[in-house]
Amino acid sequence: MAFLQFQLEATDAFSKARAGTITTDHGVIQTPIFMPVGTVGSVKAVTQQQLKNEVKAQIILGNTYHLYLRPGTEILEAAGGIHQFNGWDKPVLTDSGGYQVFSLAANRKLTEEGALFQSHIDGSRHLFTPEKVMDIQRSIGADIIMAFDECPPYPSEYSYAKKSMELTHRWLDRCFARLKETPDLYGYTQNLFPIVQGGTYKDLRTVSCEYVAAKEATGNAIGGLSVGEPEDMMYEFTALCTENLPYNKPRYLMGVGTPWNILECISLGVDMFDCVMPTRNGRNGMLFTTNGVINITNKKWATDFSCIDENLPCETSRFYSKAYLRHLFVAKEILGLQIASIHNLSFYLWLVGEARHHITAGDFMSWKKEMIPVLKQRL
Ligand code: GUN
Repeated sequence: MAFLQFQLEATDAFSKARAGTITTDHGVIQTPIFMPVGTVGSVKAVTQQQLKNEVKAQIILGNTYHLYLRPGTEILEAAGGIHQFNGWDKPVLTDSGGYQVFSLAANRKLTEEGALFQSHIDGSRHLFTPEKVMDIQRSIGADIIMAFDECPPYPSEYSYAKKSMELTHRWLDRCFARLKETPDLYGYTQNLFPIVQGGTYKDLRTVSCEYVAAKEATGNAIGGLSVGEPEDMMYEFTALCTENLPYNKPRYLMGVGTPWNILECISLGVDMFDCVMPTRNGRNGMLFTTNGVINITNKKWATDFSCIDENLPCETSRFYSKAYLRHLFVAKEILGLQIASIHNLSFYLWLVGEARHHITAGDFMSWKKEMIPVLKQRL
């Protein structure tokens, strides 16, 4: 089997947006793409059949940190990897755990060797090193695996951001070395994506892009953004990174974002996105639609029997009414969480599909300009 291939199919004349295809051993991904987050090997409240048939997801995410703690690598290996275990036979990407250790685990301690932490589940102690994280990601068996990194908080002092970036770079070397020493376990190829760090300092980001680019990986990621910095700063640093990362490789912006964030960052040359927003906010009653943002728990929807979103190809969005979905939320019925999650994910997949269509058609920027104010409207 083979390393992933990235084929550019269209580039926008008025921005850095591009449309392409990523070919992996588990199938093709059309970019730009949004990847639903399936932390523990499950996209919360959504079945694999719904992801495929309604959401039209092409690739989903898993988290090394969570899958290592539960069910653990022994069970994942016994299953034959994550695809066999959860039945999702399309591409999977796993994040490395670096980010989750720092956002979830207790008593974290960072050293040159790695990150010591206590499980958020049972308090047990663990050490993640770049080597260990590669081994775990081998056991999980995602098509795209992420380097072990440290994501510094915003704001961070220059000296801290620099030290952290340099540590991330040394960890990156160790990730590649370990991957080279270990075989693919399940007969298909795993692709390691390095992650650019460097906080909100231009010189550091530039250095980090150069370091990452020199690895000649099959794709590259931008980390450390959307961590509380102003939106304009996120765009500024995304632009700086896309300009300094290889043109002919997919670029993945980690943890971003709102629908309008995604459209802006597509125009800056980003190809891949993931975010918990459609599922997490969906479970809190926030719906993203082609007409704007809805808080479905609001009384105003109580007798609105129109469907959730008539403009989406998703059956769930077209079948159920706003009034019924509001009723499910008020009654705390679990079906409400499922409908909201399927709808929001379908909307995100529709959005990146439309972006791709308009990049190919040559009118992406005028479409984006028209679309963003509509998407931001509070209904
Ligand atoms: N998810 C969102 N941001 C980041 C990051 O900087 N690093 C990793 N590993 N995951 C992320």
